Amino acid sequence: MIKSTARINAIIDFISDVNILYDICCDHGLIGLNALIANKANSVVFIDISLPSLNKVKFNLDKVSDKISSSSIELVHLDAINYSFINTEENCLVIAGIGAHLLVKILNNECIQKQKLILVPHSHSEVLESYLTDKEIRFSKSSVKEKSRSYPIFLVK
Ligand SMILES: C[S@@+](CC[C@H](N)C(=O)[O-])C[C@H]1O[C@@H](n2cnc3c(N)ncnc32)[C@H](O)[C@@H]1O
Repeated sequence: MIKSTARINAIIDFISDVNILYDICCDHGLIGLNALIANKANSVVFIDISLPSLNKVKFNLDKVSDKISSSSIELVHLDAINYSFINTEENCLVIAGIGAHLLVKILNNECIQKQKLILVPHSHSEVLESYLTDKEIRFSKSSVKEKSRSYPIFLVK
């Protein structure tokens, strides 16, 4: 068993029929791993700038190796700003748990155009909202409560 939370469950509820799910700034990888266990994606690419974070993904993967195939997983140690995402509508990017200033820098990656986006900044969500509005990117917004905190969830496409 691996941990999940109300915020992670809400994110996973928005994922459906995805080919490649990109769990960006994945840290422990709980979003991508729980999505795979729930059969929401064919494969997951976990991206983090920190090696200790990717080691946490490996540790969690060992706990659920009976539930998911390791061939459906790729671990990438990189600044997500520079990653070459496969740009198709079948794919989905989840960017959660970072501030909106960094999130917007990642969104400026030219390989991010057609994918579905699930964006859950942990601070300065107004910066993300202005960015999407200024770029005329259509989005819907909801929120999830976890303990005493509310997290905004932005969906694109
Ligand atoms: C608080 S964790 C978020 C974990 C998970 N996404 C969630 O929402 O539960 C933030 C992670 O972002 C990673 N990170 C920060 N800047 C990054 C960057 N430029 N590219 C990739 N990963 C980054 C950190 O190493 C850390 O593991």
